[in-house]
Amino acid sequence: MTKRIDQPTGTETVGHEWDGIEELNTPLPRWWLWTFYASIAFSAVYVVLYPAWPLVDRATAGTLGWSSRGDLAKEMSAAEAARQGVFAQIAATNIEALPANPELMQAAVSGGAAAFKVNCVQCHGAGAAGYQEFGYPNLNDDDWIWGGTLADIEFTLNHGIRWEGADATRASYMPAFEGVLDTGQIGAVTGHVLSLSGKAKGNAAGATIFAENCAACHGPAGAGMPEVGAPALNDAIWLYGGSQAAVTKQIRAPRHGVMPAWQGRLDPVTIKMLAAYVHSRGGGQKAAPARPATEPTGDVAQTKKAENDG
Ligand code: HEC
Ligand code: HEC
Repeated sequence: MTKRIDQPTGTETVGHEWDGIEELNTPLPRWWLWTFYASIAFSAVYVVLYPAWPLVDRATAGTLGWSSRGDLAKEMSAAEAARQGVFAQIAATNIEALPANPELMQAAVSGGAAAFKVNCVQCHGAGAAGYQEFGYPNLNDDDWIWGGTLADIEFTLNHGIRWEGADATRASYMPAFEGVLDTGQIGAVTGHVLSLSGKAKGNAAGATIFAENCAACHGPAGAGMPEVGAPALNDAIWLYGGSQAAVTKQIRAPRHGVMPAWQGRLDPVTIKMLAAYVHSRGGGQKAAPARPATEPTGDVAQTKKAENDG
């Protein structure tokens, strides 16, 4: 165990020797040592400036007062402020006025798309195409059971459809014609219904039965009546199916679709955005032209009134 200088390298040995093999005490390279000292100096400064030593429920604060959580909070509150700004604007805008502000409408549509994924896809499907076998309507077409203006859709969402517990819910019930009409009459009127969309030849008996029993809700030509939620029967879009069997079934023992009221479950801004999204999907209808804010006076008013009455 004697230290000595190793001749070939000129380095001191540590004194260990195994079977004639000796361990040299080679000093650390300079560059390594200096990097090492520099890191120590760096950490000393860091510990003073930034949060470093873990304590029980937090770390030492550091003289700069910086924290990653604080950074995140700052970014989040900036994003939140921007979002709240848009929300507040949407909240303050009447839904029918949204399209006049394309930027706001776009924000509402994308907000609505996100809310749709959470609240509506289970019934209406991811693409809002609905499921006919369950009577969940397609929201992409321009056929509206309860009306397709932004205000109509917002109302439908707020109050639901045949939703018990929502006073203003959309509700109307088609009578069951089983027992009211005999089998021959049901067959005839089914034929007439199918003829409205060109699927069958018309028949006089069916047309009469339709006029007497169905036209009050579905309209004389079967164009439907959103006021009573009676779907159009003269197009190729069906809630429950346009086969002879499906139509007969609905006439005998009607199904009545139910949708929850969303007022109270979702906040008004989300509902407004959902209405904007649904409206944007396909054939959202335009609102009737707004009435002039002030009634025209004199002759103009007379002419207007005559036009309206005519
Ligand atoms: C009191 C109003 C009312 C009357 C009268 C009425 N219906 Fe209906 N009908 C409805 C409503 C409301 C629905 C939609 C039910 C729903 O949304 O679930 C409907 C749905 C239908 C459907 C299903 C349409 C589809 O897209 O799948 C058919 C077919 C139909 N009615 C035919 C008739 C015929 C034929 C008669 C007359 C014999 C008749 N209805 C009388 C209100 C009425
Ligand atoms: C529990 C199933 C269910 C859920 C969830 C649901 N809907 Fe519906 N929705 C229905 C049914 C059923 C009808 C058709 C009712 C009828 O027969 O009139 C309907 C009708 C509608 C209508 C009226 C369509 C028209 O032609 O007038 C709109 C708009 C609508 N839903 C939008 C939504 C939106 C937006 C959401 C999510 C917030 C949603 N629905 C969630 C079942 C549902």
